[in-house]
Amino acid sequence: MSLQGFLFPEARQFNMVLSTHPNPSAPVLTHFSLAGKTALVTGGTRGIGLEVARGLVEAGCSGVAITYANTDSIEADRIALSISESIAGTPKIIAYKCNVKSKEAVVETVERAARELGGKLDIVVANAGIADHIAAIDYPEDKFREMIDVNFHGVFWTAQAAAKVMESQWKAADAKSGEGRGSIIITASVSAILVNIPQRQAAYNASKAAVVHLAKSLAVEWTEFARVNCVSPGFIATDMLSVHPEQWRKQWFQMIPGGRLCEAAELKGSYVFLASDASSYMTGSNMVIDGGYTLP
Ligand code: NAI
Repeated sequence: MSLQGFLFPEARQFNMVLSTHPNPSAPVLTHFSLAGKTALVTGGTRGIGLEVARGLVEAGCSGVAITYANTDSIEADRIALSISESIAGTPKIIAYKCNVKSKEAVVETVERAARELGGKLDIVVANAGIADHIAAIDYPEDKFREMIDVNFHGVFWTAQAAAKVMESQWKAADAKSGEGRGSIIITASVSAILVNIPQRQAAYNASKAAVVHLAKSLAVEWTEFARVNCVSPGFIATDMLSVHPEQWRKQWFQMIPGGRLCEAAELKGSYVFLASDASSYMTGSNMVIDGGYTLP
């Protein structure tokens, strides 16, 4: 029986159908291929975002835009070139300065990247984020607003701009072919699920919990043209963690069943999975990658 034979339109609450896998019985590694796809990664010049960008091109993307807020522009261009030169076929990697707090800047960057990467955008990773450790009772208004502006509003502006591009690509393509459908991936955190100690970071935790539920909501609204999923990392060895006192780190190690931090590059496979047809039936999910930290 065809897949459509399993659907009962009269009983369905939604008229939208999630894109089908182009060839589910093909050998499994082909499901992970991103050959010919294009992508944009916010916060892509360092830390997790940089490794995600590298993973996407290693999996076959023909072009990837990496955005940054604070990196020096010459350094950002150098990073883009070095990723490109490390991959056979020297895929197009372009760095764009873009503050995710500005909806206007995000829309302009997403549209420009789609144009400059060959007229389409298949994958968008809303990864840019900040962290702060301030006791809730003393949280200054400007710092609280800044956290929500970057980690929550910034993710929404990025996802919304991506969705507009992906929806118009899907409408322009033959709707039945599955062409033009996109994948939006949000970097959330285990802080969306638990409350980290000993640091006090209510604003960060709340911002990450908000994006996980945002992703579920967007996944339902945008089923026809984009899948929306989150990755929730545990403790990853990036600049974000390097600022913490040694005493905190020791305490964390005791709380992680895995007993160690994770290298940023260990996460890239999960983003490739969510970007690719290997996860074709997955939308609205939150992949927790934490060495078991959230389990005890
Ligand atoms: P990072 O500090 O190395 O990278 C953060 C990136 O976000 C940087 O590229 C920075 O330029 C960008 N960014 C910050 N504010 C921005 C703004 N206003 N506009 C545009 N870009 C901006 O840290 P890391 O660890 O790579 O963080 C990436 C994401 O992973 C963040 O969303 C973070 O919350 C999340 N995360 C990190 C974990 C960790 O242990 N390092 C654990 C769980 C989640």
